[in-house]
Amino acid sequence: MIFFQKMAQEPIDTNCMTLTRWILAEQKKYAPTGTGDFTQLLASLQTAVKAVSAAVRRAGISDMFGVAGNVNVQGEEVKKLDVLANELFINMLRKILKFCHHIYQENDNEIEVETERQGKYIVTFDPLDGSSNIDCLVSIGSIFAIFKKPHDEPLAPGDALQSGRQIIAAGYALYGSATMMVLSAGHGVNGFMLDPSIGEFVLSDPDMKIKPRGKIYSINEGYEEKWEPAVKEYVKSKKMGTPYGSRYIGSMVADVHRTLKYGGIFMYPATVDSPKGKLRVLYECMPMAYIMEQAGGMASTGTKPILDIVPTSLHQRSPIFLGSKDDVEEILEVIAKHAAK
Ligand code: AHG
Repeated sequence: MIFFQKMAQEPIDTNCMTLTRWILAEQKKYAPTGTGDFTQLLASLQTAVKAVSAAVRRAGISDMFGVAGNVNVQGEEVKKLDVLANELFINMLRKILKFCHHIYQENDNEIEVETERQGKYIVTFDPLDGSSNIDCLVSIGSIFAIFKKPHDEPLAPGDALQSGRQIIAAGYALYGSATMMVLSAGHGVNGFMLDPSIGEFVLSDPDMKIKPRGKIYSINEGYEEKWEPAVKEYVKSKKMGTPYGSRYIGSMVADVHRTLKYGGIFMYPATVDSPKGKLRVLYECMPMAYIMEQAGGMASTGTKPILDIVPTSLHQRSPIFLGSKDDVEEILEVIAKHAAK
């Protein structure tokens, strides 16, 4: 039997809100007399994300998996995807000469930019988070936060060590079944889906809000024996009565994005082996905490909001509990109960 079906013609939105249009509209709304530097900075981040997304999509056939410095069948040296992503972010930001300083994950050294290039902003980023998932095609992402340079003098070491309350914009890109950029500049959270047919991010998830309570917990349960008793008690309680679902991808961006969309809680707690947790404050915890708070959720170290941390080193780590407000408050109560014992 043969079926013929007329394909429904997708209506084409001839007036869609692209990320570029949105960035320009935000600048007009909130900083009408601004110089446009911030707009250019966001536009450059967008370009970096598009370039990384394109690289992720063709990584397999371009032989970009595996170890840095591999030689492909044509005898050419192939950059590993995370090395490439890092270079793309650095070059896109460096080109516009508007940012002053960026802190990133792939190298222990921060990049210092020549004095004449120094601008008003400090960008912290993880160009390719979840890199251990690259070779098996599981979703990966990029994370970033933008701070203001705290003075007009040339940059000094430590200028990036600011409280999360000083963030002026943050976001992430998820390279999943589609590429999505989720962004906040302090007035709510908006999600933009990359439309490959026009090469533009299009507003698909306006004013994102997280549910006050979800039905999913997300944690690497392989470390259960290494958790503190409060975390053990909380996770055990999520399996009782009407149990929560358990989901853990192992790519923070993917786990946080699911938590934002469906509600629930994502946890990377301290363990006996890593008493400060694993995730980095400046370019993993803080940007995600900023997005969560802007979406009506919470993000905590277990004892205080992530955004209240004032880091003392660039690559500082912190335990993190983030997601729906009621879910995060529930684990904080368990932690406080154990601390009071
Ligand atoms: P990496 O970039 O080295 O793969 O690390 C990923 C991060 C983060 O994205 C994720 O939430 C966490 O590490 C997963 O760590 P575990 O494997 O310890 O669960």
